[in-house]
Amino acid sequence: MNYENILIETQGNLGIITINRPDKLNALNHLTIQEIGRAARLFVADENIRGIIITGSGEKAFVAGADISEFAHFTNDQAEKLARAGNDVFTFIEQATKPFLAAVNGFSLGGGCELAMACHLRIASENAKFGQPEVNLGLIPGYAGTQRLPQLIGKTKAFELLLTGDMINAQQALALGLVNAVVPQNELLATAKNMMEKIASKAPLAVQEIIFSVNAFYHFETDGFEEETMAFARCFNTEDFKEGTQAFLEKRKPNFTGR
Ligand code: COA
Repeated sequence: MNYENILIETQGNLGIITINRPDKLNALNHLTIQEIGRAARLFVADENIRGIIITGSGEKAFVAGADISEFAHFTNDQAEKLARAGNDVFTFIEQATKPFLAAVNGFSLGGGCELAMACHLRIASENAKFGQPEVNLGLIPGYAGTQRLPQLIGKTKAFELLLTGDMINAQQALALGLVNAVVPQNELLATAKNMMEKIASKAPLAVQEIIFSVNAFYHFETDGFEEETMAFARCFNTEDFKEGTQAFLEKRKPNFTGR
């Protein structure tokens, strides 16, 4: 199976997916999300695999968000399709019958934070930074950031991060319960593999039922997911979205007017 934007490998009974667009800080364009989805499904279907690690190429970024250059000129219909396609993949990961761990090796912003949150476990390197900066683009998260962030860290801090667009560092993410552990970058993959190997030694059906039961508490696919998709698409009709994305691409500060 050939991939353009990801690398895949198998180590023992673990599958490893590495998002590989380091010059774009591993930003998630449509193809990359599709490839992550394809690899995730293949690993879950592979009877020799008991856990999957997702990480990013390079030392700077896990994923710096959805690819802004790709969607800057989208209509709201295209935006809705984009959000649904991403949500299909992220929800597949969240509800998978095998555990996924995000080894967060740097910036984990927007869609990157959302991808990490769809995984069952998150280990961060000391230089990792987390955030949902969509509001700086006149936008909202489109891959369920408004749903999973409050689930993981509570409404108080979720509102703060979503409304300010501020980034937090790895230690702050640990204190909020957004990540399971923080380790030096050169120990990240080994720590991730250790944790997953421990889980891989447990009874696979019990692991599967734990994932199913924990997810059941949150009633996945509740209305909030649908509301977010439609609100994300509505943002694409605004002048502020055009201004926010143009300002990012032109490397300047946006001037928002509320229209
Ligand atoms: N989409 C598309 N391209 C992106 C990107 C994204 N989300 N994030 C980074 N890139 C690109 C930059 O445009 C740049 O490309 P270029 O070299 O062709 O100009 C390259 O990746 C390196 O990024 P740069 O901004 O130069 O790195 P930096 O160290 O100065 O800043 C960030 C790092 C993460 C703070 C900054 O890239 C950023 O704010 N990214 C966008 C984050 C975001 O809003 N994500 C949510 C999207 S919905």
